[in-house]
Amino acid sequence: TIVCMVILISLVDAIFTSSSEDEITRSLLLGVIAMIAVFAVIVITINKNLSRLVKMRTEELVEQRNNLENLVEEKTEALLKTERLSAIGELSGRLAHDLRNPLSVMKMSVDLIKQNPKDTKISEPNVTKRLDLIEKSIDRISHQVDDVLGYVRNSPLSLSSTSLRQLIKNSVEKINIPSDVNVTVSKKDVLVDCDSVKLDAVFINLIVNSIQAMPEGGNLEIKIFDRDNMAIIEFIDTGKGIPDNIISKVFEPLFTTKQKGTGLGLASCKNIVEQHQGKITVKNNPTTFTIILPKSISITNLQTK
Ligand SMILES: Nc1ncnc2c1ncn2[C@@H]1O[C@H](COP(=O)(O)OP(=O)(O)OP(=O)(O)O)[C@@H](O)[C@H]1O
Ligand SMILES: [Mg+2]
Repeated sequence: TIVCMVILISLVDAIFTSSSEDEITRSLLLGVIAMIAVFAVIVITINKNLSRLVKMRTEELVEQRNNLENLVEEKTEALLKTERLSAIGELSGRLAHDLRNPLSVMKMSVDLIKQNPKDTKISEPNVTKRLDLIEKSIDRISHQVDDVLGYVRNSPLSLSSTSLRQLIKNSVEKINIPSDVNVTVSKKDVLVDCDSVKLDAVFINLIVNSIQAMPEGGNLEIKIFDRDNMAIIEFIDTGKGIPDNIISKVFEPLFTTKQKGTGLGLASCKNIVEQHQGKITVKNNPTTFTIILPKSISITNLQTK
């Protein structure tokens, strides 16, 4: 605008001050050329700004599109997971129902055989050992059924004051521990208000996971700590550890790296521990699962999920 005005003033000045017609025409021509030049500059500037604006808008749109794509992906995954979970729920209900009866028949038979030691063949050490193994396996299957059910339907807690050490030792006894795996339970004990059946399932899950992480053998150390109004339990194993990129996912339902895993083990552990108003966490080096449980739970705070 300023340049424009200068040109206009010089033009007017030229018209008024010069006498010859030739000079006036030349000044007019010069003025017109200058005005065209200024106009061109203005057009170029506008053009530049416009293309910058278009670029900015395009970038914004691309970002919005990416965000939307991510959102759609997330939602689809969540939906698929929910669908898979409800399918598992339905399936496990039927499976549990169908497995329970034959399992209890098997267990009863084993009990009856064991109660009949007059028969020499049955009291033979080899036979007793095999019977114990069958019994352990039956318990294991029942537990796996309970696991899936436990995850799918969250029954209310049935609380009683329990010795953690005894509970953990009982869980260890129920598992077939390979001879090259050494399990130790701390001497310390803490009494906690808990649902012993549910916590037993948690401990069995953690112990089995550790054993599976040590195919070449190793140590699993189970420590118990007494901290004010909390009990802390640590499961430390010398296994292969959990890769950094999956460690945040291990508590997610259906997350598994095992061919025959359900991926519900740790998810149900988390559910049960949280139902007890506790926390479960994991870290590497060495692989440690830590459970923090309040020693007593106020019934009024109990949420039945
Ligand atoms: N002690 C451990 N050491 C190394 N990795 C582990 C350990 N515990 C769990 N994980 C990892 O976490 C994943 C999820 O465990 P989770 O118990 O939920 O399911 P799973 O063991 O794969 O299946 P399931 O419990 O049904 O047999 C496992 O597949 C494994 O990769
Ligand atoms: Mg598991």
